[in-house]
Amino acid sequence: MRLFTTVAALRCYLKLYQKRNQSPDETDNPSVSIGLVPTMGALHWGHLSLIARAKKENDLVIVSIFVNPLQFAPTEDYQSYPRTLERDRLLCQQSGVDAIFAPEAQELGVNEQLSSRTQVVPPSSMTSVLCGKTRLGHFQGVATIVTQLFNIVQPNKAYFGQKDAQQVAIIRRLVKDLNFSVKIVTCPTVRETSGLAKSSRNQYLTPVQIEQAAVLNRSLQQAKLAFQAGERDRQVLEAIVNKELATVECVAVEYVELVEPDTLMPLEKIEDRGLLAISVRVGSARLIDNVLLKVRSPIVAIDGPAGAGKSTVARLVAAELGLVYLDTGAMYRALTFLVLQSGISVDDERAIAQVVSNCSIQLSSSTDDLDYPVRVWINGEEVTQVIRSAEVTANVSAIASQKAVRSALLQQQQSWGLKGGLVAEGRDIGTHVFPNAELKVFLTASVSERARRRQQDFQTQGQVEITLEQLEQTIQERDRADSTRELAPLQKAPDAIELCTDGLSINQVINKIISLYHEVVI
Ligand code: PAF
Repeated sequence: MRLFTTVAALRCYLKLYQKRNQSPDETDNPSVSIGLVPTMGALHWGHLSLIARAKKENDLVIVSIFVNPLQFAPTEDYQSYPRTLERDRLLCQQSGVDAIFAPEAQELGVNEQLSSRTQVVPPSSMTSVLCGKTRLGHFQGVATIVTQLFNIVQPNKAYFGQKDAQQVAIIRRLVKDLNFSVKIVTCPTVRETSGLAKSSRNQYLTPVQIEQAAVLNRSLQQAKLAFQAGERDRQVLEAIVNKELATVECVAVEYVELVEPDTLMPLEKIEDRGLLAISVRVGSARLIDNVLLKVRSPIVAIDGPAGAGKSTVARLVAAELGLVYLDTGAMYRALTFLVLQSGISVDDERAIAQVVSNCSIQLSSSTDDLDYPVRVWINGEEVTQVIRSAEVTANVSAIASQKAVRSALLQQQQSWGLKGGLVAEGRDIGTHVFPNAELKVFLTASVSERARRRQQDFQTQGQVEITLEQLEQTIQERDRADSTRELAPLQKAPDAIELCTDGLSINQVINKIISLYHEVVI
């Protein structure tokens, strides 16, 4: 492991590393990924969890250790903040960190007269609330130093803890507003067994105070229980926290507030998501903690071209994560069955629109029937097996391409989405059906790989031999038709993660998606 104290030396190391690891055809576009874990040292398990995540996701991991004077007010603990470089160095080495960047204040120019240096000023609506009310200038100091670190290291990803939820929201906003091309990864708060969030400032607490400080998390968990039981009101949720905090005498409350997690605007009532955040003083330490309250469970949207294995993957991912598999294909089939059963002609769009607008479809996952892993009902009648008939198969695409059908089913799908907790796959799930899905995956495979897989399927089904060239041509035509059609065209959502399944087994694909899920869902 290397330790750098100057910007020039670190830059030189990064440049050399990039050069050494660049593949010959990617001279303009380095293929190595760099993960940055910015810290102020005094490393604890919270930091180590950020490092572990960065190690998993990057070729090179840099930890910065810098007690940043810009983010301390004159009355705060800048002088006494724990500085434990030797111990930190050992921990980084044991965790497989590639390099530490530990500059002196003058190296980053932060001990100059503040009035004579450039600073980064985040929106005051985000810096004047919560901790910003008492820590004047703190987030401006954080934003400035984090900008410098991003410019020096130029990481692909940077890792922050959810404990500092306000800091994370401000940094995400900074990255968005100033077009940094770094991905911010937020990792769950690491806690003592008592529930106390790990923090370098816990060192200021006596053993008795450490026990007493467990009330922070306890109070938030009580509010979370009330939230899960249906409570949405700010006053009630805040009162639950305050009441529990008041049971421990040495805890002096600075704030207990419910805000919108991205904008940090105060919330009167949780519609979708709320951040319940607290700050207290225990002895000389200022401690913060928070809980994210989400009305709906996460949604995973999987889109991609035909033959990339979306439905199998979606079903298995749902089973693995304990989520519902929203089989949209089965919904279109159920509707087609209903239309055929009622004797309406498949091109009578008006009559079909009438049938669709009055129908209700139910789906349920069944783990014990491998042939029919999703059971389907339409208007109360179970149609799990009949929707797989040749007649339904022959007509489903004509019906699914009708506008009225799509908009009626869109409404049904989105009403499932209100509760969340599901995996859905299709062509426009991430772009159109669930644009707010927590995880969007664009599952692809090369044309030749898809042709090979299809040929294998045909062979195992004992069907007539079709050449690979013929299959490739059909797939290419299908891709073009899917991407250019007017209704629900195949599109990759800008925030979707592309996953090419060439050379991967089903299990590898599923494991990748599950690990992506754990990255985005806190
Ligand atoms: O969270 C921290 O430790 C600091 O605020 C950071 C992000 C390293 C900036 O100094």
